[in-house]
Amino acid sequence: LARNLILSFETSCDETSVAVIENGDTILSNIVATQIKSHQRFGGVVPEVASRHHIEQITGCIEDALARANVTYDDLSAVAVTYGPGLVGALLIGVTAAKAVAWAHQLPLIPVNHLAGHIYAARLVEPIEFPAMALVVSGGHTELVYMPVENRFEIIGETRDDAAGEAYDKIGRVLGINYPAGKQVDEMAHQGRDTFHFPRAMDQDANFDFSFSGLKSAFINTVHHADQIHETLNKNDLAASFQQAVVDVLADKTVRALHEYPVKQLIVGGGVAANKGLRERLGKELQAFPQTTLELVPLSLCGDNAAMIGAAGEMLYRHQVFTDATLNADPGLEF
Ligand code: KG4
Ligand code: ZN
Repeated sequence: LARNLILSFETSCDETSVAVIENGDTILSNIVATQIKSHQRFGGVVPEVASRHHIEQITGCIEDALARANVTYDDLSAVAVTYGPGLVGALLIGVTAAKAVAWAHQLPLIPVNHLAGHIYAARLVEPIEFPAMALVVSGGHTELVYMPVENRFEIIGETRDDAAGEAYDKIGRVLGINYPAGKQVDEMAHQGRDTFHFPRAMDQDANFDFSFSGLKSAFINTVHHADQIHETLNKNDLAASFQQAVVDVLADKTVRALHEYPVKQLIVGGGVAANKGLRERLGKELQAFPQTTLELVPLSLCGDNAAMIGAAGEMLYRHQVFTDATLNADPGLEF
């Protein structure tokens, strides 16, 4: 049986990544060159700095991905690339590199939505079964996506303001934690208790939308007020209180969605899906849904990577979703 080998690219934010994926579900290589150190002193991702890093890293990543997979361009079936959403200059590097490879080697070019990538990371562990629901939580997105059949994505809920990861990063800065703060806030939260009872915005609303900017402001105001009166607050309790508010809302809305849309799988992906508190809580909530299996994307594939883009790309390959050299980056791409 012929092997389907896809060379995939991901450069939407601050990771330059190139992977080789076999038959859509097996990682032959997944090279991730992170730029986090270069952005840390600015407290967040600087788009121009990101683009420059992608340019410097991309060709080396391609060579490493092919070498690590022990394949050549001649073995490939197609090229897949993230073309949105994300930072336009960053996206353009991956899109241009993928177009060049596809054109030079006469390979089909597959355009991939970054969020589809975060969802399809799940199939690198277990095949996706439909209908499925996905909770995508990252630095740029907080979305509940219903997938009645393969290659159909219906956003049933999303954040009205900040993304969950963005809120983590912003309150992390107030706690003196380097960007990206999510992982460390998560660890601190496990040493603390929910003593502050921050607001759970929209939690009781009969929809699937989220809002995290009020929580972020409540957190920042609490810390600033304490500073003014020279009171020291317990940072672990602050982290635990913040995390409990985030996890409560994410879990409550997801449970509400599962009641309205019965599904075979709940997939949880994106950088914030690495959160221990969220993973534990959803594990408990899913006990009430015996028909639904919980597919938590493994920690190594929650952050941005090209393997997930190859996994989604192979699905699009089967649906013959191809593009050509006119492909452009689409920073505001929706499903
Ligand atoms: O998916 P991702 O790598 O990039 C985007 O597409 O945004 O997600 C990065 C985000 C950051 O905001 C980071 O703070 C957050 O994921 N994150 C976490 C954890 N690990 C990473 N947030 C909460 N808990 C974690 N353990
Ligand atoms: Zn992402």
